[in-house]
Amino acid sequence: MSVALRDFLRDMTLLVQPEFDPLHQQQAATGLLRDLVSQSGWLAPEFRAAGESFRQLLLYNDPLDRFSLVAFVWGRTSIESPVHDHGMWGVVGVLEGVEISTEMVPDPAGGPMRPGRKDRVPAGEVMLLGPTYDIHKTANETPGAPAIAIHLYGGNIGSAERRIYEATTSKATIMRSGYDNPVLPNPWAQPVAILP
Ligand SMILES: [Fe+2]
Repeated sequence: MSVALRDFLRDMTLLVQPEFDPLHQQQAATGLLRDLVSQSGWLAPEFRAAGESFRQLLLYNDPLDRFSLVAFVWGRTSIESPVHDHGMWGVVGVLEGVEISTEMVPDPAGGPMRPGRKDRVPAGEVMLLGPTYDIHKTANETPGAPAIAIHLYGGNIGSAERRIYEATTSKATIMRSGYDNPVLPNPWAQPVAILP
């Protein structure tokens, strides 16, 4: 039973209420995600195992699409993600290894995208994505080494229509990123107990 994940999902569900604006939700969620990625043992081995390429594993999606939690497991041969946007608030947490996020700014004239701020996010730390920092690419600081990022979004990131970009021309293409896993973790699992 993963108490850490169960408690995180409970606390997230309480804060994605309509009376809280998205900025407030993201700020409160940042503290919850930092707490989650500072703990070990809550993510089952099948959601941690590296494949050859990058895996996007849905851990939970709110039934009303108010938030989603996704494990990004870097593959043995993956170098960096395509340039992409999100269209919703996000918090990037790192559970294992180090993830690098590089902001990318499109050229309206169709020239190459320009790198902006660069964030190095080590295990146990978080960084924020939002309206002023929405287009980026990510990389495993040490390609081939184990790295797992836990990303939290203010919507169902896998089903949302968003964009990937061609870095040399700033050309945007609409896409839906989906998820790679057919089953979800069960943080409520526990053994049968005969109670007195
Ligand atoms: Fe991203």
